[in-house]
Amino acid sequence: MNLNQLTRMLLVAGLSAGLAGVMTGCRGDRSDEPPHQFFPDMDDSPKWKPQSQTEFFANERTMRKPVVGTVAFGTVSFVPAPGEEWATHWKDKREDLLKDDLGFYQGISGYDKDGKPVFVSKIPASVIVDAALLKRGEERFNIYCTACHGYLGDAKGTVSPLYNPSPANFYDPTFYDPKNVRSLDGWIFHTIRWGKPGGGSDGKMNMPAYGHAVNERDAWAIVAYVRALEASREGTIEDVPEGMRDQLMKKRAAAGTTPAGQTAAATAPMGGAK
Ligand code: HEC
Repeated sequence: MNLNQLTRMLLVAGLSAGLAGVMTGCRGDRSDEPPHQFFPDMDDSPKWKPQSQTEFFANERTMRKPVVGTVAFGTVSFVPAPGEEWATHWKDKREDLLKDDLGFYQGISGYDKDGKPVFVSKIPASVIVDAALLKRGEERFNIYCTACHGYLGDAKGTVSPLYNPSPANFYDPTFYDPKNVRSLDGWIFHTIRWGKPGGGSDGKMNMPAYGHAVNERDAWAIVAYVRALEASREGTIEDVPEGMRDQLMKKRAAAGTTPAGQTAAATAPMGGAK
């Protein structure tokens, strides 16, 4: 506290003692004026913005080096030991903070010589694709993608007709063509997180980005689900475990979705159109 502040404090203390009687009369009154601040430094606590200047330190920089002997959160890698699964949360948190795994966090393996991103072709190995992931992907897809891409991913969403170009149909042959970027899982991941720019100088997006709503783990879950939707089109009854075929056929007959000359080429994912 400098002399200025001290005198101000004493002045305020003296004044408020003198005014106490008057003040009590004001309590409960409404006012449109900003409230009086008797100790403003408690309301507006001092802070430094990055890259700013100060007289406090000899080198006048507000940004300081980490204190010797301390370890900043996120700088040491660890794998939770068996029995310490609770620590997985912190491992994920640390990795989310650093985001230094390009494959997982950006869906790319690096950049080519022109500085263009190289998309990974498959979901990174660190993402375990199991039934739980697909379930999560289905749920997130149904929330975030269906309005435009439809529940089946065939671009027949409620608002699809409003878009030009229209939303992608995930059964378009381009998505299966290994020479097309759409066959790369990293591309779909990237589209979810960063959207699809229109390419014009106005910066308009053909598809908005969903990175604010869909985190990396969920984006991979959606990619897995989109691939499952695509694969479902190519499926035959032979892909269904023998014990479950009867059950599936009954379900489909009841739903009226059994095509003539049935080989159960799936036209809808099981339980899809609820
Ligand atoms: C508000 C509407 C809208 C929503 C919601 C939406 N998209 Fe799109 N999406 C589009 C449009 C429009 C295009 C076509 C863009 C183009 O052709 O340039 C598109 C294109 C795509 C493409 C193809 C990109 C390409 O051209 O290769 C993928 C993949 C995709 N969307 C995935 C998704 C996923 C997954 C979600 C859910 C997280 C989603 N989209 C949500 C409108 C939407």
